[in-house]
Amino acid sequence: MKLSITYSLLCKLLILQYLSAQCLSAQDFDFFYFIQQWPGAYCDSNQSCCYPITPILPAEFNIYGLRPTKNDGSTPLNCDIHSVFDKSKISDLIENLELNWPSLRCPQLKSIKLWSHEWMKHGTCSESKLTQHDYFQTALKLKKKLNIIQILENAGIEPDDKFYDTSSILDAIQQATGFLPGIVCNRDPGLKSQLLKVYMCVDTSGSNFIECPGVPMGSCGDTVQFSKFWVNLFC
Ligand SMILES: *[C@@H]1O[C@H](CO)[C@@H](O)[C@H](O)[C@H]1NC(C)=O
Repeated sequence: MKLSITYSLLCKLLILQYLSAQCLSAQDFDFFYFIQQWPGAYCDSNQSCCYPITPILPAEFNIYGLRPTKNDGSTPLNCDIHSVFDKSKISDLIENLELNWPSLRCPQLKSIKLWSHEWMKHGTCSESKLTQHDYFQTALKLKKKLNIIQILENAGIEPDDKFYDTSSILDAIQQATGFLPGIVCNRDPGLKSQLLKVYMCVDTSGSNFIECPGVPMGSCGDTVQFSKFWVNLFC
């Protein structure tokens, strides 16, 4: 009798220890990178882009990713291989996601495949804070809060294929949000540097922008082209 009680207690302790270790590893990130992408620049490159005819993509930055990150800049990946992406859990968000978190890759990739990939690779690393539904809803809320095209246009920076000082783009976003973003550029087929991605940092709850411990730097020159908005249909 005594032995079996001790044994069951030991089991419980082991289970508790296992669970807390799981929680600790799942919580192991310090902030999110919230990354938005300019479709005009993604499409204006040698890799080109592929997008379905409907829904019509708005002329806005779209969501590129919501990535749990550590203060040293490293990115935990694939944190829960037992998780299963479940479309039914985000059925209320699909329409919104189609417009705001599309796949632009060629050959055309179904958006649902992109979301599943993003959840498994990145989302599961914030599972201790956000459920699958929360994760996608959080990204959509952040996108709504951070309307980059509006911010830039208010500062006279428009997607007109012209070149702008990189510092004026950073300043405009910092003025509007209170936080310095990171920006990443790609090159058009003629090798011109163009604004592709904007990085902002968000606390682990997913609700507040914060000062970034560090941002990607160096892929843009002193001036960058803000390419016109277009996407390639029918491919
Ligand atoms: C795109 O392709 C052209 C032709 O092959 C090449 O000259 C150019 O360097 C490529 N641009 C980039 C950014 O790789």
